[in-house]
Amino acid sequence: MFVHLHNHSHYSILEGLPKPKDYVAKAVSFGMKAIAITDTSNIHGCHELYKEAKYAGIKAILWTEIYVESSLDSKINHKLVLLAKSLKWYRNIISLVSKASLDNPGTISKIKFEDIISLKQEVLKENPSFKGFDAKRGEEIFTSKHIGKKGKEISCTSCHGIELNKSSENFFTGKVIEPLSPKANPKRFTQLDEIEKWIKRNFNDVYNREGTALEKGDVITYIINK
Ligand code: HEC
Repeated sequence: MFVHLHNHSHYSILEGLPKPKDYVAKAVSFGMKAIAITDTSNIHGCHELYKEAKYAGIKAILWTEIYVESSLDSKINHKLVLLAKSLKWYRNIISLVSKASLDNPGTISKIKFEDIISLKQEVLKENPSFKGFDAKRGEEIFTSKHIGKKGKEISCTSCHGIELNKSSENFFTGKVIEPLSPKANPKRFTQLDEIEKWIKRNFNDVYNREGTALEKGDVITYIINK
């Protein structure tokens, strides 16, 4: 069934006129079972939408559309729709939206890419003196060889190659893999669940274990800046 997942209410100043309850009424009139609102860098309409949707017997999907600073040029901001798939992710959205406005007083509320992957917070919990991710450590993680999947000695480069702006071939299947670098392949690092899924699987392939938050942060920093 089709559900609208990208809508702006009057809480997105100058970007939308309807109130959250108008969206609920419209969704109900179309026979849709759920509705999301993705207001720009805020979640002011959250309570209202949730209450109205619950009352109407449909599901409210909680959300925001947030600006993410380009990793290439800090003057450029991309818009990213975030939809919470569980309470944990709703909490993440609350902290991202707060961070976006606290970090940018008086200007456009935005986050950086590292903020989304919430790895920084995870690492800080383990190590309060943590200063930031390191591309050099990330390079070592990406290029060093280990006995991995099927007992083969491989590294991340076995599938992704060493030139991240070029396509490569999967070591096991021979299938073409599009360039990993977001500079060469803008589709990269745009879908959180995909990144999480692949990083988990790929670490297991090479290291026979999951990566720590620090390792994942370092290797992503390396890939993004390569
Ligand atoms: C056995 C082959 C293989 C190895 C080894 C491998 N990858 Fe991957 N990786 C893939 C495939 C296949 C995909 C998904 C297809 C695609 O996105 O093009 C992928 C996707 C990814 C993505 C997803 C990026 C995105 O948002 O689209 C990241 C990040 C990644 N790999 C990082 C790594 C890292 C870090 C390592 C080393 C720990 C690694 N990969 C090792 C095959 C591999």
